[in-house]
Amino acid sequence: MPTTESIFDTVYDRTETDSQKWQKYEGDDILPMWVADMDFHAPEAVLDALHERVDHGIFGYARPEPSCVEAVVEMMQREYGWQIEPHWLVWLPGLVVGLNVASRAFCEPDESVLTNTPIYPPFIMGPRYQNRLIAKAKMALEGDRYVIDWDAMETAVQPYTRMFFFCNPHNPCARVFERDELEKVVEFCRRHNLICCSDEIHCELLLDGRKHIPLGSLGPEAQERVFTFIAPSKTYNLAGLGCSIAIIPDAALRRRFVNATRGIVAEVNNLGYAACEAAYRYAGDWRDQLQRYLASNRDLLHSFVKSELPEIQLYQHEATYLGWMNVSKLQLDTPVRHFENHGIGLSDGAFFDSPRHLRINFGCPRATLEEGLKRLKAGVEATR
Ligand SMILES: Cc1ncc(COP(=O)(O)O)c(C=O)c1O
Repeated sequence: MPTTESIFDTVYDRTETDSQKWQKYEGDDILPMWVADMDFHAPEAVLDALHERVDHGIFGYARPEPSCVEAVVEMMQREYGWQIEPHWLVWLPGLVVGLNVASRAFCEPDESVLTNTPIYPPFIMGPRYQNRLIAKAKMALEGDRYVIDWDAMETAVQPYTRMFFFCNPHNPCARVFERDELEKVVEFCRRHNLICCSDEIHCELLLDGRKHIPLGSLGPEAQERVFTFIAPSKTYNLAGLGCSIAIIPDAALRRRFVNATRGIVAEVNNLGYAACEAAYRYAGDWRDQLQRYLASNRDLLHSFVKSELPEIQLYQHEATYLGWMNVSKLQLDTPVRHFENHGIGLSDGAFFDSPRHLRINFGCPRATLEEGLKRLKAGVEATR
């Protein structure tokens, strides 16, 4: 655990602001550790770029500048060795939008989207909102580590399944899939003729020096049937600026996807583009520090739960700032409500297709996490 002070130790007051996370419990003494944004300032380089853009003073309909597109292309090459082409990028105001658009673009109403559960809720709700069917394959556990259950995948996939929504790094299971697992994903999609949407929004939040491999980079088969979602929003804490990217190498898939956005998907805004470019160009050191800080928060969470709250099972945590907990031993009817009553607001596993689980957001200063852990403990003690 680092003892030196970090920029991430600063506690900012987010009450009485436009924050969804904090407004939810406004006026109540409940510490919000639910929705996935962090209680940190964005990197200085991003703030500078935003100030500069604001000083320009004109906020007309926006398009990315060539330098912004170049920043994304260079980042993918630098970080992952994946040479993408500028025209593969489709800019979106959010990836939840993208999941909905993909459902419309590649599935008919009587066809299904396959996904692994537990899963980030819009993977299930996106297809549902678009009146598409959803096929779920539960992940398996190897010890405390989630893995893809290939038998469950083979059982869940149907002749009318058109897509696989894949999440890597996985939210909420916090797994970083390895090359052999990714190769199996591509092979599975080829065999069942599925288009794969690989949501890699958390790909810069790998802990302990792990390396992310974009699914779409795995060769010609992947290039034909995989498209990749990325965004600077999770890593650089810019979710409110609504700037996300679909990387779609295949021209026909890209056309279908873009056609499904027409008239209903708003453009990305000026500030989103400015922040995106600055984050990908200049905030690498900040991100590296963030990863180390998050790893020590993760360690604190895990050691605290192990020593103080043995009733709770935490899973192996390889990426993201979202811890996933099995609280079934506490035998609570409404776990979220119970912990809210003890002053901590968590995400309900039921929405992730996994009742009796909770997700805790530890993307916060250490002092905030320590306070959250005290409250978590009070909630567990009340069940003893
Ligand atoms: C896997 C995943 N995809 C998408 C999103 C949300 O993306 P956006 O804010 O761009 O809609 C999240 C947010 O937590 C996420 O975890």
